[in-house]
Amino acid sequence: MSTMNTMEIERLLNIGIELSANADSDSLMREIVDVAMDLTDCDGGTLYILEDGALSFHIMITISLGIDRGGHGQKIELPPVELRETNVCARAAMDKMLISVADVYEDQRFDFSGPRRYDEMTGYRTQSMLVIPMLDDKGDTIGVLQLLNAKDEKGNVTPFPKDCEQVIQSLASQAAIRLTNLNYSREITSLLESMVQVLSTAIDARSPYNANHTRNMARYGKNFLAWLRKHAPDKAMTPQEEREFLMAVWLHDVGKLGIALSVMDKASRIEGFEDAICQRFELIELLSEISYLRGEIPLESYEKTKQELHEGLETIRSANSAGFLSDELLAGIQAISRRKYVDRDGITKNWLTASETETLSIRKGTLTPKEREIMESHVVLTKKMLERIRFSKEYSHVTQWASNHHELVNGSGYPQHLAGRDLSFQERLLTILDIFDALTASDRPYRKAIPREKAFEILRSMVKEGKLDGEILELYLQSNAWEE
Ligand SMILES: [Fe+2]
Ligand SMILES: [Fe+2]
Repeated sequence: MSTMNTMEIERLLNIGIELSANADSDSLMREIVDVAMDLTDCDGGTLYILEDGALSFHIMITISLGIDRGGHGQKIELPPVELRETNVCARAAMDKMLISVADVYEDQRFDFSGPRRYDEMTGYRTQSMLVIPMLDDKGDTIGVLQLLNAKDEKGNVTPFPKDCEQVIQSLASQAAIRLTNLNYSREITSLLESMVQVLSTAIDARSPYNANHTRNMARYGKNFLAWLRKHAPDKAMTPQEEREFLMAVWLHDVGKLGIALSVMDKASRIEGFEDAICQRFELIELLSEISYLRGEIPLESYEKTKQELHEGLETIRSANSAGFLSDELLAGIQAISRRKYVDRDGITKNWLTASETETLSIRKGTLTPKEREIMESHVVLTKKMLERIRFSKEYSHVTQWASNHHELVNGSGYPQHLAGRDLSFQERLLTILDIFDALTASDRPYRKAIPREKAFEILRSMVKEGKLDGEILELYLQSNAWEE
């Protein structure tokens, strides 16, 4: 840099803003090297970060050799520079001092055998060098910026001018502080994510039937998002949106914390029905036998009743555990419920009580309307709980996405009966992941796992009914996201 022109000054003034706008450390590091090289009009720049007591290469640029390595998530496979006093970069890092070298071939202070070997191999001529420690707000070194071969207006290599040192030093420190802040926020994010995962795993573990539900969904979701990036980039989310979405997945069922296990784990329509109903049926049989022994009814009549009681119990057993109650079973239950007997006190009663009949007649699933209401309230609870968490801006949709995971595109979901236009891509996807795992999980109490092909069929039929988003479902089914 000979003299700074207006554009360079403007750029320098904007650097602070640019640095704080960079959301990932790779592009931030790239930006620092670019700006520093521009300002000094030099040929090369290397950025090292202090990691485990050595300086590891992160960005490496030599314009005249066409070298541009590191950044964009790629690693530079070079051994890190040990913190030895004789190494100029290590020294700048240790002493926290900027070091300027006019010509490495004449300088006696440091061991420059490395650059010389490099020159021999490449035909390059390393001459002037400026090494700047990157100091964070506590004054600790977090890395080193090394610039090579400053040039004058004619393009001749010159020593780095003294008047650029202060500017570059302050630039390096701004960058260091920004990098440190990015690290802090990464640490906080990973703390938040791990706490959320522990919480959800604990909630899932309350019920053996649910033990892997959230974890499975997070895995399918993560795989699917990676697949989208590759195969449907127009649908892909940004890395931050992905984190936000997965956070919603992890938290979608936290409301289940408030749901009684007797409802959540209900495996049959009447749990433990055998006790009450079997005893009653035994009593009816005994009363019938007594009537026969007393000569009040003929033997055939007693035996017919006995036979019907046995068949009735079989029907009740089947109805009790059926995932879906067929017309035939329903008719069977209705018929049994109409049968009457006279108990020991001479009172006429039905074989089944009204509530037993109602419960056994549930068409789908094992829950009565009241129990279903309790079960469905878990999303309302999810919302209430998450509303109390002070999410940062990056996670501002988590509560909404998580609480809408039972809404359906045609408005037939719950609790708000939101319609398609109110449901975002993320909400539609979360619903699909939830249903997919519910269908394919092998540990649900109310039914066996459904083979995957059959699950696809069910999901597609839900698209036909207008409940799910067909486009997202087809992408998901293509992605094989459930594979390890
Ligand atoms: Fe749910
Ligand atoms: Fe769920």
